Amino acid sequence: MASITIRNLDDEVKELLRRLAAENDRSMEEQARVMIRAAVDGQIGPGRIDQIEKTLRELTSVHGAATPAGAPAGKTFPRGALSGRRILLIIGGGIAAYKALDLIRRLRERGAAVRVVMTAAAQEFVTTLSVGALSADHVFTELFDRKDEHDVGHIRLSREADLLVVAPATADLMAKLANGHANDLASTLLIATDKPVLMAPAMNPRMWAHPATRRNRATLQKDGIAFVGPARGEMAESNEAGEGRMAEPLEIVAAIEAQLDVSPKPLSGRKIIVTSGPTHEPIDPVRYIANRSSGKQGHAIAAALARLGADVRLVSGPVSIADPTGVKTIHVERAQEMRDAVEQLLPADAAVFVAAVADWRTENSAGEKIKKVAVEGPPVLRMVENPDILAGVGHHRQRPTLVVGFAAETQDLLHNAEAKLRKKGADFIVANDVSQGSGVGPSGVMGGDRNRVRIVSKAGVEEWPEMGKDEVAARLAALIAERLKTIVV
Ligand code: CTP
Repeated sequence: MASITIRNLDDEVKELLRRLAAENDRSMEEQARVMIRAAVDGQIGPGRIDQIEKTLRELTSVHGAATPAGAPAGKTFPRGALSGRRILLIIGGGIAAYKALDLIRRLRERGAAVRVVMTAAAQEFVTTLSVGALSADHVFTELFDRKDEHDVGHIRLSREADLLVVAPATADLMAKLANGHANDLASTLLIATDKPVLMAPAMNPRMWAHPATRRNRATLQKDGIAFVGPARGEMAESNEAGEGRMAEPLEIVAAIEAQLDVSPKPLSGRKIIVTSGPTHEPIDPVRYIANRSSGKQGHAIAAALARLGADVRLVSGPVSIADPTGVKTIHVERAQEMRDAVEQLLPADAAVFVAAVADWRTENSAGEKIKKVAVEGPPVLRMVENPDILAGVGHHRQRPTLVVGFAAETQDLLHNAEAKLRKKGADFIVANDVSQGSGVGPSGVMGGDRNRVRIVSKAGVEEWPEMGKDEVAARLAALIAERLKTIVV
């Protein structure tokens, strides 16, 4: 989508737009969009097409992004990940305001339209002139500016954006929003908006550590405000160091991209089942048989698949970690419950079995707590085999297109993984060595944060280097997306 720069228009067109916008209670930009739409739809007679075409050329550049004021004629900005996204950037008053200039450039390079609001204090650090030149738009500074030809009203200003970004977010701006103050343009916009808000705090480490700032941050987070930074390091204004440096412009851009969720969605429309965590097999109402699985790897895979757009159903055994965002989680305890939950979720496009399912359960778990009876000695537990959930789905009449299993082995890794691939009807097995000497971190794979896996399929074995469980998850999700794309059913 193109950005529209009203200030680049000639006076006559500007005057016409202003009049029509006022008559229709629209912003000038909105009026321009309506007129362009009407022209495209053929609602404007042929006599005026030349004028409209000229206007369109003035309004937009060839590649759809606005040309900044003062930039050489014909210079255009490339389409990027943020193409067509509208960012309202609020610059607070702090030495880090100079980094906001680079942030504007980085955002525009990626195709975003950036509209800027500066607080009075921000103008002590950077000028509206330089900000306006970089954003190629009017810079808004006053709450009530009746004379301002660009005045679009604070409600509209905050709502015509996809995201509000506060950088630098000063202690004062955070305090104002946390407490609902609206006594200047920036604070009014923040409270008037219905769009997400991202803050990049920057302040002296003592200010950041102050209980009042901590309280305000907690309140803002509870209210759904996202944060990026601050980082630890040298402060620009003094010899102090500590936590309080504003995140670097590219980190803020990454946070903006994450907020706007501009990543590709190759798995959209795909339903994927993931099992994760251990199972608990009861002995009696208070005792159970468990294993060391934390659920970290399975949950990370569910989250990674969801990030690629999949409709993920996570069937999780008892874990102490949170449900991943963007995923529908079903909580179960026992292997039989996990099997039932998985089978009820069929059909699906893919299923990934990460859970460390208990292979056995007690034949009859006691209805009452088993008491210590001295004459009888310790109870004898008779075990029976649990259903193999992966094998059941791998040979199911509603078998998903892609079935992925895991193999946790302490010996003969590849041999065992290949045997499981065949026996369980999987397309590939993610094999990991869970032996004490696996060399993965001090706590090992189970419960730890790192993993080293091999992907075993009919095509052979692919070895991945040791990496964090999140990275294993991201790579596996990408591999699943790739495989689903190429498999034609
Ligand atoms: N699995 C399952 N249901 C079970 C046992 C295992 O779905 N009852 C799945 C696991 O989620 C994993 C794969 O099967 O994807 C292999 O699990 P693993 O514990 O390594 O193998 P087992 O089949 O249990 O064999 P063994 O314990 O003898 O190695």
